[in-house]
Amino acid sequence: MCSPEYFAVEYAINPWMDVSTAVDAELAVKQWDRLRETLLGLGHDVHLLTPEPGLPDMVFAANGAFVVDGTVYGARYKHEQRAAEAVAHRAFYETRGWHFIAPNETNEGEGDFAYLPEAHGGLVLAGHGFRTELPAHAEAQEALGRPVVSLRLVDPRFYHLDVALASIDDENVVYYPGAFSAASQRVLAQLFPDAVIADDADALAFGLNLVSDGLNVVLNSEATRLAGTLKAAGYHPVPVELGELKKGGGSVKCCIAELRH
Ligand code: ARG
Repeated sequence: MCSPEYFAVEYAINPWMDVSTAVDAELAVKQWDRLRETLLGLGHDVHLLTPEPGLPDMVFAANGAFVVDGTVYGARYKHEQRAAEAVAHRAFYETRGWHFIAPNETNEGEGDFAYLPEAHGGLVLAGHGFRTELPAHAEAQEALGRPVVSLRLVDPRFYHLDVALASIDDENVVYYPGAFSAASQRVLAQLFPDAVIADDADALAFGLNLVSDGLNVVLNSEATRLAGTLKAAGYHPVPVELGELKKGGGSVKCCIAELRH
């Protein structure tokens, strides 16, 4: 995770961002801190990346890389404004001895990649359409040695895979079908017949932008309906308020890069 100390909306690269909106960076830090404490309280380790002035979106740590079984496939941001973040993420992994593979193709890390270790023997889901480009899916498959299933995102409000779909345990997902092309919806239905399905309100409340340890599902507090759906499906929803960061177009999952040894 990376503190939103320098968080601001200085440019607009997704439909949620409005440069005329005032941002309270102090409140953002407070809310982010509650998220960090929530993860610690659930027994997880949290490592911190040092925030840098001039990189207002650095709090969205999920975009910096995608890690599977100790191998790190690095990010290459679509927008120039965020390009330098990749350098900080790379240094984080390299100084700690992770096997880092530098990308040639445009991709925004866990923003557009999800991993399900027990689905079909270990499956990567990958989004394209707005940020990550299709050739990166093939590059990730070669880097990580796992089958990568390409899914096309069609609604600009859901510009990253991680605002439309999330893994809720090692083999299942929750997703909002409306974010995907009709063909990609069929692919998801075939791969995940038991998926939890989210609706428009869940998606617009950033409910899909969640992290789960297989039981506890940490999600945006505005996504009350999705919390109920997940509870009915046997999960334990843990709501966290992240209203300030929503102004940048992100929530829980965007703030967390998962380290999979
Ligand atoms: N303002 C950031 C951007 O548009 C938000 C990134 C959200 N991150 C995510 N994993 N969805 O790039």
